[in-house]
Amino acid sequence: MTQTLSYRQGLKGVFKVPGDKSISHRAVMLGAISVGETVISGFLPGEDCLSTINCFEAMGIKAERSGTSVRIEGNGLHGLKKPEKTLDVGNSGTTLRLMTGILAGQPFNCRVTGDSSIQKRPMKRVFEPLGMMGAKFSDASSAPFEVYGQKLTGIEYALPVPSAQVKSAILLASLFAQGETAIEEPVPSRNHTEIMLGAFGADIQKKGGKIISRPVSELKAQNIAVPGDISSAAFFMAAALITPGSKVTIEGVGVNPTRTGLVDALLEMGGRIEISNSRSVGGEPVADLTACHSRLKGISISGGILPRMIDEVPIFAAVALFAEGRTSISDAGELKFKESNRLNAMAVELGKLGAHVIETDDGLIIDGGFPLHGAPTDSRDDHRVAMSLAIASIMASGSTVINGSECVDISYPGFFEQLASL
Ligand code: S3P
Repeated sequence: MTQTLSYRQGLKGVFKVPGDKSISHRAVMLGAISVGETVISGFLPGEDCLSTINCFEAMGIKAERSGTSVRIEGNGLHGLKKPEKTLDVGNSGTTLRLMTGILAGQPFNCRVTGDSSIQKRPMKRVFEPLGMMGAKFSDASSAPFEVYGQKLTGIEYALPVPSAQVKSAILLASLFAQGETAIEEPVPSRNHTEIMLGAFGADIQKKGGKIISRPVSELKAQNIAVPGDISSAAFFMAAALITPGSKVTIEGVGVNPTRTGLVDALLEMGGRIEISNSRSVGGEPVADLTACHSRLKGISISGGILPRMIDEVPIFAAVALFAEGRTSISDAGELKFKESNRLNAMAVELGKLGAHVIETDDGLIIDGGFPLHGAPTDSRDDHRVAMSLAIASIMASGSTVINGSECVDISYPGFFEQLASL
């Protein structure tokens, strides 16, 4: 697919970004295992979330989607049916990990697979804690694999790496387990599962740094309004910060503090970002974000901020190219296990544009201020890499080609059209 975009002045506009991917997935899954009809508005119709709908339809769930509105007829905690075919999660790691938590406690066996990128993504981190709960899987460390449904028992588990997907898989399995499940995180990761489980009537509490889940007899269907995805808003905030003359306002963005690490990092760089009209929607904090062209300086980020901006590291790296001095990112080794090896992808692909980026064991070192020139680049079939390259290319001389740019449909159908409209 070829997209031709050029920028003569700054980016300007007031607009919304599509719904939050993490929240959209969770709304479908919890809707499917609750009693009654769940209505989701602002659903992200990206390929990943459609994979979640497809998988649950294959287990007998009726889902009706019209644009960003989805109705799910829940069959209750014990109403999923054995799928007739292999469950295919496509490119979606969130579907893969979270759904495995649900499948582990079903009274049937099934097989799960996904695309070539999914087949490389580590599953031991999910199989291990679920195995402690009594779950059984075929001997595999990634998809495809079989899940042999079992009766589960609650566990106490300290997550070795901060991962909302692993935490959520355990929490979803705990709905089918006997006794209490307690999870401890080394640093907090996104907590949408905890918030939404509470709304659906699960017995979930935070006590002394632990998340405690106790079984309930049923979950009750809810209406879920999905806020705009801050991981998608990130690209336009970044574009505005680096492009002279820009001012953009993105309305209705989810600003859950477990997701706002990028905003904190950009503010520290000197980014002019304003958070206004703060409100709460279904237990999730929501606000409007305004970003203007800014003079940026390099910073160092490490530790607890990383899980709060785990999906925004590629775009943060792109912004750092336009900051004065050096930016270093460490404690980001998890990026090697995403849709692509994002540390390598950003170092190599930004390098093709003339950027000075060094890949380290657990991060990146970026020297800002070098002029960029257009070049052929490769998205690595990773939506966040493609969008980050598109934003960096705005300020490059000449034209940039992003091969495989159609992968943006995973999380942001219409991304290039939105960018062009600004
Ligand atoms: C997600 C959690 C993160 C993130 C992914 C979505 C989620 O993964 O990278 O895009 O919805 O729970 P990890 O928790 O494995 O880091």
